Amino acid sequence: MVEGKFITLEGAEGAGKSTQLQRLGDALNRAGVDVVRTREPGGSPAAEEIRTMLVSGETQRWVPETELLLHTAARVEHVASIVKPALAGGSWVVCDRFHDSTVAYQGHGHKLGTDMIDQLHQLLFGAFQPDLTLIFDLPVDMGLKRTQHRGGGEDRYERMEMEFHERLRHGFLEIADRHLDRCAVIDAAKDEDDVYQDVIACVNASFSLALD
Ligand code: TMP
Repeated sequence: MVEGKFITLEGAEGAGKSTQLQRLGDALNRAGVDVVRTREPGGSPAAEEIRTMLVSGETQRWVPETELLLHTAARVEHVASIVKPALAGGSWVVCDRFHDSTVAYQGHGHKLGTDMIDQLHQLLFGAFQPDLTLIFDLPVDMGLKRTQHRGGGEDRYERMEMEFHERLRHGFLEIADRHLDRCAVIDAAKDEDDVYQDVIACVNASFSLALD
C-alpha cells in the first residue's frame, strides 16, 4: 500500500488552525482520501494525559527543559500509536502542531535555542518530518484577542508575556525560511474563507490535487 501524506498546521495562538484543519480534512475526504485528524500535544490517550499537564496551571509550572521533554514524550506516544500506523495504512494525517511548535515555543519562546531540540528530534524520530507544513501567521495582538473567549482552562501558554508571543511569531517565520522545501506561510489575518482558499491552493500545488 502507498504511504499516506503527513500535513502539519503550525502557528501562534488564535491563528484559526483548528477550523482550517477540519475544512481541509473535509476537502480531502470529498476527494476520496482517508484522513486522520489529530493534534499535539495529545492525539492519543497517553499523550492527552501529558497534554493536560502542559496546557493548564501556572505559566511558570515547568522549567523549560522539562516542558521540552514533556512535549517530546507526548510526541513519542502520538507518533508511535497514531501517526505512523495511519501513514503506513495509506491514510493521510493532518495534524494541529508538531515538532515546529517545539522549536518555536520552547526554542524561541523559552529561549532554549534550536540545537538541543533538533538533536532530540533526530535522536528519537530520525529524518521523520511532515510532507507539508502550513505556517499560519498573524499579528500577535490579533491572535490573542481571538483566543479570549475560548475557556476550557487550556490557556497556560496564552497567559505568557507579550514578548514570549512576539518571539513565537518570529520563530515560526524563521522556521519557514529554513525549510522552504516543506513549509508555506499562510496569511491568517484574512477572513476564514480566504484563508481556506490559500490552504487549498498550497495543498493542491504540493500534491498535484484538485481539491476545492
Ligand atoms: P493548542 O492550543 O494549539 O492546542 O496547543 C497547546 C499549546 O501547546 C499551545 O499553546 C502551544 C503549545 N505547544 C508547545 O509549547 N510546544 C509543542 O511542542 C507543542 C506541540 C505545543
